[in-house]
Amino acid sequence: MMNLKEKIFYFISFSISIFLGLFFPLSVDSQCNKNLIIINFGDSNSDTGGYVIVRGMIGQLPKIHTFNHDLSGRMCDGKLIIDFLCESVGNGYLTPFMESIGKNFTNGVNFAIAGSKTLPKLNFFNLHIQFAQFNRFRSLSLELFNKGDGNLLGDKDLRNALYTIDIGQNDLDGIFGKVTYEKAILKIPDIISEIENVIKGIYEQGGNNFWVHNTGPLGCLPKSLATYKKNESDYDENGCLISFNEGAKIFNNKLQVLCEKLRDEMKNITIVYVDIYSIKYDLIANSSTYGFMNPLMGCCGYGGPPYNFESNNICGQGNYTICEDRFKYISWDGIHYTEAANGFVASKILSTHYSTPPLKLHSFCNIAP
Ligand SMILES: *[C@@H]1O[C@H](CO)[C@@H](O)[C@H](O)[C@H]1NC(C)=O
Ligand SMILES: *[C@@H]1O[C@H](CO)[C@@H](O)[C@H](O)[C@H]1NC(C)=O
Ligand SMILES: *[C@@H]1O[C@H](CO)[C@@H](O)[C@H](O)[C@H]1NC(C)=O
Ligand SMILES: *[C@@H]1O[C@H](CO)[C@@H](O)[C@H](O)[C@H]1NC(C)=O
Ligand SMILES: *[C@@H]1O[C@H](CO)[C@@H](O)[C@H](O)[C@H]1NC(C)=O
Repeated sequence: MMNLKEKIFYFISFSISIFLGLFFPLSVDSQCNKNLIIINFGDSNSDTGGYVIVRGMIGQLPKIHTFNHDLSGRMCDGKLIIDFLCESVGNGYLTPFMESIGKNFTNGVNFAIAGSKTLPKLNFFNLHIQFAQFNRFRSLSLELFNKGDGNLLGDKDLRNALYTIDIGQNDLDGIFGKVTYEKAILKIPDIISEIENVIKGIYEQGGNNFWVHNTGPLGCLPKSLATYKKNESDYDENGCLISFNEGAKIFNNKLQVLCEKLRDEMKNITIVYVDIYSIKYDLIANSSTYGFMNPLMGCCGYGGPPYNFESNNICGQGNYTICEDRFKYISWDGIHYTEAANGFVASKILSTHYSTPPLKLHSFCNIAP
């Protein structure tokens, strides 16, 4: 039985689905005549439950509010960008690699774990570890698929899969504001070369198709803004921290250059580079035009304006509160975007206007038999 509060939530969720459907149409692409297999690497921006599974969390999670049971385990009030992308090609949501119960990897597999970085290489579930997990998944999957396991992927599936990568935000967050700007910038090439290693490693095993998201405007996150007090000259016209955003842009430029280099070096590779930064910065700068408000304030947090973020009372802990209309907020908890904002970003991604080359996601559905 649903109590009144839950009923209201379901009603709101339903209404907002209609709203999102009207304004950001994410139509299922009929041109996909078979599953697009997606194999994802990343952090909380695309973690569909891995972190929560690893930690053995169940039910109503601290820090995470589950408005929809199918979407539990995400650092969000609902769908992530990757969820919207999966929906757009008619797929179910990605199963975390860490799932050990009732797993089905026929749509692909998600190695993303919240908090992951690229460096240090062997810490936590950083990118290199996710790649090692992929190698293990790949070899076991091939072996068991050939023995008839219907939940796994075969050789053709792995070759034709789209390998998606969204990582770097936690690396940048860990250096900007902690060391001087000049020192922080010097660390960026090492982050990029970790991403390069992984793309090359996957390619060497037959993966040809990559979809790389760049990083968003770190200096517009309520957490960055609330944590690092700066001088007036450190803020841009939208109230974001200039140095943090410059750092994100330098990372993004180098990531784009890497994609170009790999396209030159590697025969038959397709790498779509997606400029998430521009989509998110446009959303923040033009928030009211897009139907959002308080672009620098988290919906779930503590302290009220200007950022509603306080490290002792973060979303899910201490005296935090949840805003009245989470569908009008861009930031969910001061770090992660809301479902509403993710839907907006996904619709822009699917437009191909922010992609180099401008390939549609569904163009990866029908490669080879
Ligand atoms: C796994 O999911 C796919 C897609 O939803 C489905 O076609 C397939 O039958 C499932 N596998 C098993 C063994 O149930
Ligand atoms: C080139 O890429 C396509 C699409 O992924 C793949 O089907 C084909 O086998 C690849 N060819 C070579 C020579 O690797
Ligand atoms: C603010 O600017 C002053 C003068 O330029 C400088 O001494 C100080 O270190 C700056 N403070 C911060 C937090 O950047
Ligand atoms: C905000 O919207 C205007 C009008 O569409 C556009 O010219 C501008 O580039 C947008 N701002 C950003 C930061 O994208
Ligand atoms: C939460 O509020 C109570 C009552 O004002 C206060 O005593 C407590 O210290 C607050 N908790 C935190 C983590 O700030």
